[in-house]
Amino acid sequence: MPAPGAPSLARIRDHLASWYRRGHRDLPWRRTRDPYAIWISEVMLQQTRVDTVIPRYTRWLARFPTVEALARASLDEVLEEWAGLGYYARARNLHAAARAVSERHGGHLPDDPAAIRALPGIGRYTAGAILSLAWHRREPILDGNVLRVLSRLFRLAGDPRAAAGQKALWTLAERMVEAGDPATINQAMMELGATVCAPRDPSCASCPLSRVCAAHQAGDTGAFPAPSRATKVIAIDQVTVAIIRRGRMLLARRPPRGMWGGLLEPPTGAPREGEPLPDAARRIARERAGLAITDVTPLVRFQHLLSHRRITFHCFHAEAPRGRVRLEGYDAFSWIEPDAAGGLGISRATARMIEALIRIRAPKSTSPPG
Ligand code: ADE
Repeated sequence: MPAPGAPSLARIRDHLASWYRRGHRDLPWRRTRDPYAIWISEVMLQQTRVDTVIPRYTRWLARFPTVEALARASLDEVLEEWAGLGYYARARNLHAAARAVSERHGGHLPDDPAAIRALPGIGRYTAGAILSLAWHRREPILDGNVLRVLSRLFRLAGDPRAAAGQKALWTLAERMVEAGDPATINQAMMELGATVCAPRDPSCASCPLSRVCAAHQAGDTGAFPAPSRATKVIAIDQVTVAIIRRGRMLLARRPPRGMWGGLLEPPTGAPREGEPLPDAARRIARERAGLAITDVTPLVRFQHLLSHRRITFHCFHAEAPRGRVRLEGYDAFSWIEPDAAGGLGISRATARMIEALIRIRAPKSTSPPG
């Protein structure tokens, strides 16, 4: 809560809104009031950088221009369009929510907070963003940028991600949109957090709020937001095997739920304690695809970082000239030319492995490039 003597919210809103109106980044989702387009942008922006999102947002809207178009698409098509953006539950939820909007709301996102929050994947933040940006409703937003701005402005003590901190921050975010244009205020807080009130070395000299910012006045912006207790990252190993038959590789589809649900991958599994990795590759090919493989060769090893896990992928390359595929823990498969896999619903880790496969299979060039 603002300390006694804290700057008035009216002044903060005024400074913030006029700063935003004087100039801000021209982002494509700021040119629309279509709730569907705003929803897509907010979901993409949740865990993906603005620069990456811009072309993907444009491409998505060209392919699925309306809720109905998204609802009509198959999950495979949706995952294919999402490929490479990570955190695929977002795409599965978008698809499920589009179908719910089509069935329950005639294809139009509801402008009611309870109805919108009942949709898969739409939490308090996304609902607030859609309602305020598309319909100018007085609904708050709180993302990482807004959290940092408000924590500094009011010098909020305590872990901002713990329950008490979240409650205080959401209350402040609500009060920020009690007057003025909520779309402008919310966009402006995100813009300030992204461009001025940076996590390290904020540009206080060009900040419209520096004179009313409690942390700046106290000279301790670096102490806010207080660091959260670090989340523990678990290291795990995965063995994955590119099984080749007549030049094509086996890709199997993961079941719809869970991590990477619905995506295609080469048969993958965890090595057992102490098991040599090539043996694990042979076992995984047998257990998960029913195939006896030969010529098992290491292909590439890399790490893939998720919010709570650091996965080391140990990738192998092998042959399986014959034998019927019998899947375990996958629900479909196909034999794919490695060059053609890029357009399919695959994760970034699978794409990395396939790139390595293409590189080693490319005929060695005998003349210098030119
Ligand atoms: N990050 C999340 N939502 C955003 C938005 N609407 N504009 C810019 N960055 C964002």
